[in-house]
Amino acid sequence: MRPKRSGRFRALLAGGLALALVGAAGWFLFARPKNVAPQYYVTRPRGSVTFNKNIAPIVFENCGGCHRPGEAGPFNLLTYVDVSKRAKQIAEVTKSRLMPPWLPEDGHEEFLDKRRLSVEQIGLINQWAAEGAPEGNAADLPPLPKWTEGWQLGPPDLVVTMPESYSLPADGVDVYRNFIIPVPTTEKRFVWAVELRPSSKAVHHAFIRIDPTRESRRLDEKDPGPGFGGMTKPPTADTPAGHFLGWQPGRGPARAPDGLAWTLPAGADVVLLMHMQPRGKREMIRPSIGFYFTETPPTNTPTKISIFTYDIDIPAGATNYTIEQTFSLPVDVDLLSILPHCHYLGRRLEGFAMMPDQSRKTLLVIPDWDFNWQSDYRYEKPVYLPKGTQVGLRFSYDNSTNNVRNPNQPPTRVKYGLQTTNEMGELHLQILAHHPEEQPQLEEALNQYALKDIVTLNQHRLRENRNDTEALVEIAKAKLMLGDAANAVRLLQRLLAGQPGNTEAHYTLGIALMDRSNYREAEAQFLETLTLDPENYRARNNAGICSLRLGKLDDAAAHFQEALRLHPGDTIAEANLRLAVQARRGQSGK
Ligand code: HEC
Repeated sequence: MRPKRSGRFRALLAGGLALALVGAAGWFLFARPKNVAPQYYVTRPRGSVTFNKNIAPIVFENCGGCHRPGEAGPFNLLTYVDVSKRAKQIAEVTKSRLMPPWLPEDGHEEFLDKRRLSVEQIGLINQWAAEGAPEGNAADLPPLPKWTEGWQLGPPDLVVTMPESYSLPADGVDVYRNFIIPVPTTEKRFVWAVELRPSSKAVHHAFIRIDPTRESRRLDEKDPGPGFGGMTKPPTADTPAGHFLGWQPGRGPARAPDGLAWTLPAGADVVLLMHMQPRGKREMIRPSIGFYFTETPPTNTPTKISIFTYDIDIPAGATNYTIEQTFSLPVDVDLLSILPHCHYLGRRLEGFAMMPDQSRKTLLVIPDWDFNWQSDYRYEKPVYLPKGTQVGLRFSYDNSTNNVRNPNQPPTRVKYGLQTTNEMGELHLQILAHHPEEQPQLEEALNQYALKDIVTLNQHRLRENRNDTEALVEIAKAKLMLGDAANAVRLLQRLLAGQPGNTEAHYTLGIALMDRSNYREAEAQFLETLTLDPENYRARNNAGICSLRLGKLDDAAAHFQEALRLHPGDTIAEANLRLAVQARRGQSGK
């Protein structure tokens, strides 16, 4: 890395010199390229580097935010005694760039809230530690910064707290759990910032998701204790339109860029996924979330490109297993932030953009991935990417004993999967259409891409297990939504020939047949669904729609009434029932 960066520095200077020589822009010579810090440390006279003069300003500014009471760091770094007794360790963790925690490499697009010491600062800490950590003159000691205690943006407009605490065992494996926190709002609100107070240092990262339905509550009820386990995202819970809402220690509030507040539906649930690491004593975990609202509706809504790969099969011992995957931009976009994701075997993670003119732009490089410090990164300035750019991920994995984070010792073959002992490869990009009028076109393309991705994922599941009928049904659903009802019908009929008792397949086949206006056969499929699952109000509703289409108005009304009995207040069934009753009146009036 070093030679590359100083090389670039020279090239820029040479460019400036050439310009200066033709007299076009002499200032360029003196403007130091912003990304390029000095590349080596010039040792100071022996004994001249002291805590009070040189080290305290660095540590207060870059470490104290987390290493102080009530914050994430495991000990305080606020006084000479705190810091000098750990001088050696601090020299090591700053030199290896373990601390302050910040994964992206320098020298590419700049990120906001960057946490990174300069070569100069690391050099000073190392010289000071090597020379016995002298304290220096009391008069040189700067005051401690004034940190904001508690909520970082002042009192939130609404604070919600987990209804009951979760008891995290003293030891054992890491825990991944989703907790439901109801949000007592009676109308939709626009959120410009949200902050998580995790209540415990055991929480290592978290994702805030919003579920406008009651599905996540149902998953919670099936699982004893608060919340429900697993790293998988409940299907109805999602991060709001293109925002990430991730949290790690020291992260502070998640703020939406100007004009891009997000909408919190009335009475929704927060689904908080937390990664917790037991810390030697039982802990009661009860996080709170603070919302900051605005009356100003968003002027624009960002969206997300999610690039996935399922083709991951890493042999035991492989040191540089690499995957690559791209997506072609359908319109000009502005990239706002980026979130890479994989598990413990990830080593070097790169996000890139291959421009239409074949030049390559680096969007993000994480040279030494650390699952525990995963995060999203917001660009200082949006990155413009023209239509036709291939955005993509290129990740490499180390499944050998060289990888100290490898959860399998000795290493074993690792394939794609959601558990932390499996691997993943994902890159999410938060984007806006560069021309706002093209936003719908962008969303339509992303929707198609997501549906094709569902097909790919489930084809992968089928390769792993030929009898995975759920995967087949998912493929049929996605094909249906992609406008290929004929193919969906064929797939489902073949499945049902071998497995006539598959409720979901009957139901989906009914929908596909309805899509092809074949109401007679569709009705038969919904009735078959109801024989297998009499409480299925959706099948009841759709059977009613088929009856309506076939002119069997009494049957239709009876189906809708039954659907409403099974699912009181269902607005679709109510509207349909009104239609059926009106149609009946029209008929008897004739
Ligand atoms: C964003 C919050 C944050 C910042 C900023 C931060 N730390 Fe830490 N630090 C932590 C946490 C949390 C841990 C506990 C270990 C872990 O979870 O990775 C830790 C652990 C450490 C450790 C113990 C490492 C080990 O191997 O056990 C040292 C030493 C340390 N930090 C020093 C520093 C120094 C020096 C700075 C500033 C240059 C700094 N930290 C900045 C959060 C932070």
